[in-house]
Amino acid sequence: MKTICLLAQKGGTGKTTLCLHLAVLASELGRHARIIDIDPQASATAWKRRRESETPEVLPSAASDLSRILAGAERDGKDLVLLDTAPHSSQDAATAVDFADLVLIVSRPAILDLEAIGESVKIVKKQQSRCAVVLNACPPPHRDAETGIVREAREALGVYGLPVSPVSVSQRAAFSHALIDGRAVTEFESTGKAAGEIRSLFDWIATQW
Ligand SMILES: Nc1ncnc2c1ncn2[C@@H]1O[C@H](COP(=O)(O)OP(=O)(O)OP(=O)(O)O)[C@@H](O)[C@H]1O
Ligand SMILES: [Mg+2]
Repeated sequence: MKTICLLAQKGGTGKTTLCLHLAVLASELGRHARIIDIDPQASATAWKRRRESETPEVLPSAASDLSRILAGAERDGKDLVLLDTAPHSSQDAATAVDFADLVLIVSRPAILDLEAIGESVKIVKKQQSRCAVVLNACPPPHRDAETGIVREAREALGVYGLPVSPVSVSQRAAFSHALIDGRAVTEFESTGKAAGEIRSLFDWIATQW
């Protein structure tokens, strides 16, 4: 079983969004995926209530209970667990990071967001976790080339000395529209650009174990 932790101490960077779209894709690909929602805002849990399909499962949990909850996931035959974490929660975040095989720090490409990942970086470095930064809500590529904002963001991230995912996720209405009725982009607009980006991100993640 592999565990991915979506992390950002800053709010609203897209942790839950990426978590849900990746988990649905994983289920479509036949993975036994479970989201563990350790954010008291419980956005992933609310999405699941709007969702018709039984997969992926979403289980709310306190961070302090993660050890037991993850043992349960393993026993239940899950092969992929996604931990959706809360912002401004360094203690809980550190606990989640500790259990993760891979931590994805989610950041928007704007300078204020890039500067704010310092807290998350501290947590992963302290625990020597395998980690990468994923740029989310980026201006879409122009003629298949990354925009200057994304290129500059990659450069700015160099100061942290962490890998940055070569796949960035664009700001696209489909990412939020799909979630309204409990779906994800690969269901909502399977051949659309948003779905393509999530598939590319998932493929890249699979190379990181
Ligand atoms: N790639 C994207 N394209 C369009 N909208 C996006 C994208 N990523 C996130 N959003 C929107 O940005 C807002 C914040 O996203 P989300 O709730 O996933 O962030 P979060 O990091 O989980 O927030 P929190 O820190 O509060 O848990 C939501 O309205 C979501 O629909
Ligand atoms: Mg969230």
